[in-house]
Amino acid sequence: MLYVKLGGSLITPKREGIFEVREKVVREVSRDLAEVSRERSLFLAHGAGPFGHIPVKRYGLHEGLSPGSELGVSETSLSVMELNLRIGSLMLEEGLPVIPFHPRSVFRRVRGGVVCDLSAVRAWMDLNMIPLTHGDLIYDEEKGVSVLSADEIPIYLVPLGLEEAVYLSDVPGVLDERGEVISEITEADIPDLGTSAYDVTGAMRGKLEAAFRLAKSGVRVRIAGFFQRGDLIRALRGESGTLVRA
Ligand SMILES: Nc1ncnc2c1ncn2[C@@H]1O[C@H](COP(=O)(O)OP(=O)(O)O)[C@@H](O)[C@H]1O
Ligand SMILES: [Mg+2]
Repeated sequence: MLYVKLGGSLITPKREGIFEVREKVVREVSRDLAEVSRERSLFLAHGAGPFGHIPVKRYGLHEGLSPGSELGVSETSLSVMELNLRIGSLMLEEGLPVIPFHPRSVFRRVRGGVVCDLSAVRAWMDLNMIPLTHGDLIYDEEKGVSVLSADEIPIYLVPLGLEEAVYLSDVPGVLDERGEVISEITEADIPDLGTSAYDVTGAMRGKLEAAFRLAKSGVRVRIAGFFQRGDLIRALRGESGTLVRA
């Protein structure tokens, strides 16, 4: 199984904080995905972009649930579902049999980790449906709620037979200090990644943390850019992006 995550920065004008979908990009990625799906089983995800990060920040939900912010949980949940509906509809139009799958219904955080029941997702996949999930707010035993990033989700999909994960973003991979793509990265050589004002999950830093955890469980992980039709195929061939090594 191959996990492909479409970054929020790729599918929306996330940096600008505009609640829109980059339709052309989603359609072009979908055409690559349709090609890949003829040979491999897929699990798809997209970042929440402004649809998630903006309400989460406004209500402070990345720090947990505080009294009075319950409406923010509803607003965020509905907002990321709206994005999921738009992305899913475009994928359907491009011929992908996607089945939306909302993390908050399946995952919860308990002390020391995340628990989930994937039996329904597994059953859908047995019918050749393609799960389409997204970054979400989930129940958290200690904090009330917490963010589950679509960068982190594949870590819990390993029991489904996950072999490879590709994170598609608006940058051509992990960049070094000179702005050039690092072709292979290990934890020993992470560049200075800074923080992000518009990504509550830590932008490239958070993505790399999740990617290393995933690589350690034996999954092949690549962070790559998508700029035109064919870029996903090239990334899968190892011709672009950054290979993340455990
Ligand atoms: N060294 C780096 N290499 C690549 N991207 C970086 C780096 N440092 C910071 N970034 C930022 O991280 C962003 C990717 O993270 P993020 O915005 O969370 O993407 P996504 O929406 O795909 O999850 C890039 O758009 C870039 O602005
Ligand atoms: Mg991100």
